[in-house]
Amino acid sequence: MFHDVMVETQINRFSEEYWNFFTTWIAPAMVHDARVIDLGTGPGGWLPMIKAKYPDVEMDLHAVELVPVMLETARSTGEGIGATVHDLDLSSPEWSDSIEGTFEIGHSSMVLHELPNPFYLLENAARLIRPGGRLFIYDWCRHPLSEYLARKEEETPLDEDMFQHFSEHARFSPDDVTLLAERAGFRELARHQPDVAHVMLAYQRKGG
Ligand SMILES: C[S@@+](CC[C@H](N)C(=O)[O-])C[C@H]1O[C@@H](n2cnc3c(N)ncnc32)[C@H](O)[C@@H]1O
Repeated sequence: MFHDVMVETQINRFSEEYWNFFTTWIAPAMVHDARVIDLGTGPGGWLPMIKAKYPDVEMDLHAVELVPVMLETARSTGEGIGATVHDLDLSSPEWSDSIEGTFEIGHSSMVLHELPNPFYLLENAARLIRPGGRLFIYDWCRHPLSEYLARKEEETPLDEDMFQHFSEHARFSPDDVTLLAERAGFRELARHQPDVAHVMLAYQRKGG
């Protein structure tokens, strides 16, 4: 099940390399009472990690998710650490309307490529994040089919399922994401590709 895959793989996703990038480019916005929001949190594995990473911060931690089985785990994780999990659809144009106040940090891991209109995520993130605040986008990025197939442990059948996943996972280049983020009101601070198929992007909310 996708839920279990997300739980099993989170330790590799949120690796030392990931946290090095976070510390350098996102953490400068982590003030003592920072408001932080995770968009498309899945089972919410990132929530206790970010809390544990900054034990001295009186963090007001929020998350957004839509799929019921993900929401259930995220909510039970969130309850234990005082995080608020919102049941919202990131593909709707005004999903942030019911969330009050502004945030210092927004975060979204492996979500943008899944959205029919990823601009809605970025546009609403720009409404939520205060000027000077930071947004971390971590996602798959455009790469050749040869690289996609080479990542599989076994020889993958060249069926419709594979082509569907490939078109989702190799959808946007890092420049594409930055074009959308710029249009939404962010400027790129840094990017890092841990491998040919993934990118970490740090943005700052313009203005202020
Ligand atoms: C690949 S998982 C990543 C989960 C988590 N961010 C992580 O890295 O462990 C993508 C998540 O985005 C959620 N998602 C996809 N489309 C969404 C939407 N329209 N609104 C809210 N969440 C969505 C999925 O339900 C799923 O939990």
